[in-house]
Amino acid sequence: MSEFREDEKDLEREDSELSQQESSKEEIEKTNLRLRLKELESRIKLLEAERASLLIEREHYLRDLEYMKRELEQIKSAPLVEATIIEILDDGRAVVHSSNGPNLVVYVSQALDIRKLKPGMRVALNQRGSAIAEILPKSQDVYVKAMEVIERPNVRFKDIGGLKKQIEMLKEIVVLPLTNPDVFKKIGIEPPKGALLSGPPGTGKTLLAKAVAGESNATFISTVGSELVQKFIGEGARIVRELFELAKEKSPSIIFIDEIDAIGAKRVDVGTSGEREVQRTFMQLISEMDGFDPLGDVKILAATNRIDILDPALLRPGRFDRIIQIGYPNQEERLEILRIHTRGVSLDDTVDLEKIARELEGATGADIKNLVVEAGLAAIRRGATRVSDQDFQYAKTIVLTRLGRTQNKNAGIFI
Ligand SMILES: Nc1ncnc2c1ncn2[C@@H]1O[C@H](COP(=O)(O)OP(=O)(O)OP(=O)(O)O)[C@@H](O)[C@H]1O
Ligand SMILES: [Mg+2]
Repeated sequence: MSEFREDEKDLEREDSELSQQESSKEEIEKTNLRLRLKELESRIKLLEAERASLLIEREHYLRDLEYMKRELEQIKSAPLVEATIIEILDDGRAVVHSSNGPNLVVYVSQALDIRKLKPGMRVALNQRGSAIAEILPKSQDVYVKAMEVIERPNVRFKDIGGLKKQIEMLKEIVVLPLTNPDVFKKIGIEPPKGALLSGPPGTGKTLLAKAVAGESNATFISTVGSELVQKFIGEGARIVRELFELAKEKSPSIIFIDEIDAIGAKRVDVGTSGEREVQRTFMQLISEMDGFDPLGDVKILAATNRIDILDPALLRPGRFDRIIQIGYPNQEERLEILRIHTRGVSLDDTVDLEKIARELEGATGADIKNLVVEAGLAAIRRGATRVSDQDFQYAKTIVLTRLGRTQNKNAGIFI
């Protein structure tokens, strides 16, 4: 009996051991499962993050696709024609000057507000050139931009021989109102809008304007009349307008129009389209000059050697009412010019600049500059290192021949 009991006890013990073992196994499994769950959960998070980034990437690709499609469309479509509006007609159509030649009468696209269109605006015509499709942004012509003098010319007033009175006048008309406008306000007068330099070729008009640019802190915008009409056929008026716009934007500034006779000559008849074009450019110039405030900080300077052919409208008060006459230099001024141009030249003892200046009656600054160069060349030809009086005498025959003074058989060869 006791043995049997013993066995039972054993069994019981075994049972409890077994159940103990089982419960610890369950525990382990549970922890395993928990771990697995955690692992899966973090995997889900990872995948979700991956999905989100893929969605973003997809978005990017879709956008790229859109862009490419648009590019492709643009590449395939025909170009529009650039034009400038000349006039808006009462019937809602417009006269434009197309960049490829003729003036056209065109319709205006329904999508555009016709009230926004103004003469002088830059627009795009549709492919067939039959209607205004778009208003183009106002852009300053690359040419106009290029006219702005970024680097000041290194000409100074001291590089000009003579012309003292003219320099004083320029300072008063152009430089003073820009640097000290209060002087004019106090006295209550309007300063001149600008000045016209007039005088024979080679007397230093362009040089003077360059010196004004070199000496003042204003933006200097310079252009040449003949270029306005020759290089930019059909665009002259627009360029003049943009020129003044640029000047206002960059004020204080000075506009310089060299050889203004190319656009400002009086016309007997305006028959050809070229003449009409010059006329339009001229009218634009006049209206721009009338339009700006004399007390404002834009001054206008022009030069011509043909004042006799200028349209009187240009010389009316309020426009170029100040004319600065530049004449031939007198003996003293010739000497000054000669000194300036021989500054860096090695001269020998025989050279008497005063005597040379005396003998150059009727010569301009440009002639004197030319004389020095010719004398230098003669010295080089002789194999000398200094220029002598003899070289100057030779150069003088060339310059005077050009002036129609003396006849010298040999002189013409080097001209
Ligand atoms: N008064 C002067 N002092 C010093 N140099 C001068 C003078 N006048 C003219 N020159 C010289 O002659 C050159 C030509 O002069 P400039 O170009 O100014 O003449 P211009 O009056 O503008 O002639 P154009 O009517 O033909 O345009 C100048 O670059 C300068 O070297
Ligand atoms: Mg000149």
